[in-house]
Amino acid sequence: MEFFDVINSRRTVREFKDEIIPEEILEKIIDAAFKAPTNDHMRDWHFMIIRDKTITAKLLDIIPKGISEEDMEALIKDWGLNDSVQQECYRNAVPKQYRMLFDASAVIIPLIKQKTDILHPENISHLNGFASIWCSIENIFLSAAAEGYGCNLRIPLGNEAEYARDVLGFPSDYLMPCFIGIGRPESGIAPVKQKEINIKERIHWDKY
Ligand SMILES: Cc1cc2nc3c(=O)[nH]c(=O)nc-3n(C[C@H](O)[C@H](O)[C@H](O)COP(=O)(O)O)c2cc1C
Repeated sequence: MEFFDVINSRRTVREFKDEIIPEEILEKIIDAAFKAPTNDHMRDWHFMIIRDKTITAKLLDIIPKGISEEDMEALIKDWGLNDSVQQECYRNAVPKQYRMLFDASAVIIPLIKQKTDILHPENISHLNGFASIWCSIENIFLSAAAEGYGCNLRIPLGNEAEYARDVLGFPSDYLMPCFIGIGRPESGIAPVKQKEINIKERIHWDKY
């Protein structure tokens, strides 16, 4: 696929076909992750790929399986989601948090060696490692799209990351930024509406 077609076609996918992704494709996608820019030249990253549904079920057991209408309304209010397109996205995504990962062909867990307390950085450089792994995550999304697959992601809430560490056994000095679900997109699912952005209003030539 042509590069800008990949960029334009990548969308968060939350419904998947029941399909196995060949191991060499997953390796190619992770290889692309390792081509992302890195803050300290080290790329001290690991990627767990969970395909075994028994482990997946255990890993995701902590994630809510749905949300009541009442709780959804409270979430929209508490999180200050005032935009109608944004609200529509959350109403679509929040109830799918468990299934979008469970139904994925694989769950990828990126891991980064975090040397400082990520929740109490002393300066912006302390977030460089975290920023770098997010560059690698975007490479995963784009290379998956280039291969005809799709991804979603969930930020671990509450103690989901600690629970994942217990289930998967990754070392205590590695941090997981997110869960990634990857698979072949189910057909006939309308993509979530995006906010229309006029880039001419967002580019500032020489002076804001
Ligand atoms: C930092 C970050 C956190 C996100 N957290 C979640 C999440 O917890 N659950 C989820 O379903 N999607 C999550 N998303 C995906 C966004 O909902 C999605 O990227 C956005 O709605 C734009 O849609 P698109 O990816 O299809 O372009 C996250 C994306 C980013 C970049």
